[in-house]
Amino acid sequence: MSTYHVPVMASQALDLLRVRGGGIYVDATLGGGGHSRAIMNKCPDITLYGFDRDPQAIEAADLALADGWDSISKKVASGERPYVLINDNFNSMRTRLALQRVKLIDGIIFDLGVSSHQIDEPTRGFSFENDAPLDMRMDTRQAYNAWNVVNELPERQLELIFRQYGEEFHSRRIARAIVKQRSKTPVNSTLQLAAIIANNVSGNPKEITKSKARIFQSIRIHLNQELDALQTALRDAINILRPGGRIVVLSYHGLEDRMVKNEFRNASGICLCPPESPQCICTNRPKVKILTPRPLIADEDEIRHNARARSAKLRAAEKTQGES
Ligand SMILES: C[S@@+](CC[C@H](N)C(=O)[O-])C[C@H]1O[C@@H](n2cnc3c(N)ncnc32)[C@H](O)[C@@H]1O
Repeated sequence: MSTYHVPVMASQALDLLRVRGGGIYVDATLGGGGHSRAIMNKCPDITLYGFDRDPQAIEAADLALADGWDSISKKVASGERPYVLINDNFNSMRTRLALQRVKLIDGIIFDLGVSSHQIDEPTRGFSFENDAPLDMRMDTRQAYNAWNVVNELPERQLELIFRQYGEEFHSRRIARAIVKQRSKTPVNSTLQLAAIIANNVSGNPKEITKSKARIFQSIRIHLNQELDALQTALRDAINILRPGGRIVVLSYHGLEDRMVKNEFRNASGICLCPPESPQCICTNRPKVKILTPRPLIADEDEIRHNARARSAKLRAAEKTQGES
């Protein structure tokens, strides 16, 4: 496996996805193609559509899948590569699949957040440990980046971003310090931003590191509109699943996991009437059956080999028979 990214909880994800020959599957977050490759290895006789908004990920996944395909193509009659890679946000999945004449799919996997490559590549500016220009764009074709967020947004908006997407206790103080600093000279680099955070939070080094992680995460989520895209994509994915088809989602922080949990719960047909309503009048009908009442987590052995697996939470659901 390439060092671009080691796929997390691949065997649990694959078991829950229940890949079946002849089916159409979607990898909404290709990254280095690790999960896609595992899906194709399990069942070469499928068609796979892979999405990533990062052009570098599309290149890496293409290499990984082509290489994987060369070793498994003998197992199937057709020699054609059965995958299509689409460099776009997963929130446009429905339209992009329709353009490929795909209306229904048999399974979909989301492995959210950033890849190891994106974090480790200093020029991308995602890490508070490497010195780099403030960037953090997942889609490098986008113009607006983390520099614009940090240097141009009003103090109050910065504070809200830190609070809402980072759940950071010192949000106000950090926002104020950023604005004070940039009134003298712009905040240009990741390490400059990390130093401002460190100088404005109290606590031991571990706590300071956590604050840096929360602030960087919040800027990334805001800049890339991650939660809005996720909500749209989860709803679309559930709608285009065939009856019996499955959705598997790996998330890496509480905001994502809560959104997945709530979207699955709503789609499972719970009553959405206001609590004061004397009887149920909502028309919410079950679209999915939840397969993971509690999220699955990685085992100790995987966490020992891949630290990224530590925060992973895996949830899955199956489309009900009456819906398509
Ligand atoms: C954790 S990595 C996926 C790793 C992949 N499962 C593997 O095994 O190599 C997440 C990927 O999702 C992509 N991504 C995140 N949000 C996205 C979105 N809204 N639309 C498309 N791709 C997205 C990121 O660019 C990143 O490459």
